[in-house]
Amino acid sequence: MSLSVIILAAGQGTRMRSGKPKVLHEVGGKPMLQRVLDNAHSLQAREIHVVFGHGGEQVQETICDESVQWVLQAEQLGTGHAVDQAMPGIADEDTVLILYGDVPLTTTRTLQPLIDAASDGVALLTVELEDPMGYGRIIRNDDGQVMAIVEEKDASEEQCQIREGNTGMMALNGGQLRSWLSRLDNSNAQGEYYLTDVIAMAVSDGVAVNAVEADSIIEVSGVNNRIQLAEMERAWQWRQAEAAMIAGATLADPARFDVRGELRVGEDVSIDVNVVFEGTVSLGKGVSIGPNCVLKNVHVGDGVQILANTVIEDAMIGAGSRVGPFARIRPGSELKGHNHIGNFVEIKKSIIGEGSKVNHLTYIGDTIMGSGVNIGAGTITANYDGANKHQTIIEDNASTGSNSVLIAPVKVGKGATLGAATVLRKEAPEGQLTMSLIKQKTLDGWKRPIKKK
Ligand code: UD1
Ligand code: CA
Repeated sequence: MSLSVIILAAGQGTRMRSGKPKVLHEVGGKPMLQRVLDNAHSLQAREIHVVFGHGGEQVQETICDESVQWVLQAEQLGTGHAVDQAMPGIADEDTVLILYGDVPLTTTRTLQPLIDAASDGVALLTVELEDPMGYGRIIRNDDGQVMAIVEEKDASEEQCQIREGNTGMMALNGGQLRSWLSRLDNSNAQGEYYLTDVIAMAVSDGVAVNAVEADSIIEVSGVNNRIQLAEMERAWQWRQAEAAMIAGATLADPARFDVRGELRVGEDVSIDVNVVFEGTVSLGKGVSIGPNCVLKNVHVGDGVQILANTVIEDAMIGAGSRVGPFARIRPGSELKGHNHIGNFVEIKKSIIGEGSKVNHLTYIGDTIMGSGVNIGAGTITANYDGANKHQTIIEDNASTGSNSVLIAPVKVGKGATLGAATVLRKEAPEGQLTMSLIKQKTLDGWKRPIKKK
């Protein structure tokens, strides 16, 4: 038995009030439709069909998934009509799982049992609701068997009291689905072809309808406006926060914690408020992160301290280092370990050797730095000549005086010292003091300028 997934994503999403198709709005830094596709992939779907309409090109360009079969539904005539558009690509023996591009937080823990329940009939995912407004209602007979789904707009007052709602998600045999869809009509309150009508058809054909109840409402909730989008975002972030806490992280406030990608944490990690993780981030044991930091695609070694307002992207921070406050580590940087990177320091595409310190007001770019180096406050590697970038090499145990400018390509030898404000244009030899500053002098009779009246 192989699985084909049909994802409905043709709705306009008018209430989003957006130039962007609804399913491309992001939850946890990923388009909602992408999250649904990820689920389909992890269920080992043989084929994935996405039914699109409004904003189709934009959806295809953004999602850019070779394995997806795109199906155009030019006119939105109802969920049954939408599914029918994908049927030419579905084999009779397939199990078809129907998902929705605007329901992003369903997990495979809920979907796998649904697929399993389709082995001997139609599997329908339902949900018990405090307030079922807007949902199709599940009609059961006295024996508790599902007989039909009635849309709210077609429901009697009595049927409206039913609190078991249709999530819309179902799994069923491809051949049966095809024959039922061919018999749908639109003689209902909304003049639509309802997918939900296949349930009563299954019952009258003697096919079992197996209801599977979802255990969380958020897993089956859709997004229609930006308020619901924000609720979904918080629900997603709460899941990430829980996972981090279970893995050993203390969060100062799980409500002010954002993972827009994947985060792995070791034991005894502590994360202060308003920290944003993007891409893939891993934090070793005992790492602490101060407030208001952004980490994107970063590997952080054990025992690292990242202090407030630090921004790190595409970098490795070696064990035992201390970075920030107010530091910026840019792509291609690698701190080998036990480094101190202080306030208002920018590091780009550079290797900082073990134990080296860059504590204040400095730019280090395109540099290979050895171990045990001390960079004086205000040191700048002038790596750009206006046309090309050049490399600076600073060997082990070198030390640069405050306010030095190292004009690349240039090298500071092993154990070399630069005097304060050195403008280094050629190699500073190993073990020696190099200075470029003119001798101090005092001008006789010099006066400060006086303001003109
Ligand atoms: C549908 C169900 C209802 C269920 C509810 C759960 C039907 C008839 N009703 O109602 O029982 O409780 O979802 O939210 O199925 N779509 C298309 N093309 C169309 C119509 C819809 O792609 O022609 C997509 C929409 O983009 C949306 C989804 O299908 O993602 C559901 O459509 P919507 O119109 O919101 O259905 P509901 O009236 O909410
Ligand atoms: Ca809906």
